[in-house]
Amino acid sequence: MRIALGSDHGGYAAKEALKPVLASLGHEAKDFGTTSAEPVDYPVYAFKVGEEVAAGRFERGILLCGTGIGMGIAANKVKGIRAAVCWSADAARLSRAHNDANVLCIGARLLSAGQIEEIVRVWLLTAFSGDERHVRRINQVREREERWRG
Ligand code: RB5
Repeated sequence: MRIALGSDHGGYAAKEALKPVLASLGHEAKDFGTTSAEPVDYPVYAFKVGEEVAAGRFERGILLCGTGIGMGIAANKVKGIRAAVCWSADAARLSRAHNDANVLCIGARLLSAGQIEEIVRVWLLTAFSGDERHVRRINQVREREERWRG
């Protein structure tokens, strides 16, 4: 799978650690920054990754910051993005099965490397259930997004 990867300084080390994990799982990840632990603004990276995924150039996006929250708020401003902040493998699985999340946001300061790896692995492996009720709810969000953006 083609994955767009991004972080701010709070997620930088975890992003770097994730690259070999993604490669070992057979995914092709492109890093959209940041490139060091120097403080940067998370919306820059959330918008970059979100726009790449929304444009269809990447199937999924993974964003890391201190809590995952800023990335989630910002990425969800990009039309077509369903970004989910996930703190456990269960949350990751459900964000795919029920919400068809296309961007995963991770709080690198709140989770261990092992937890992050497990969340990412489960999130990438889980398919959207396609259940009518979930499709209906996602479409309601999509319709609201269309009206909002006029
Ligand atoms: C940066 O210090 C921190 O605020 C950021 O990584 C993130 O947690 C914001 O949501």
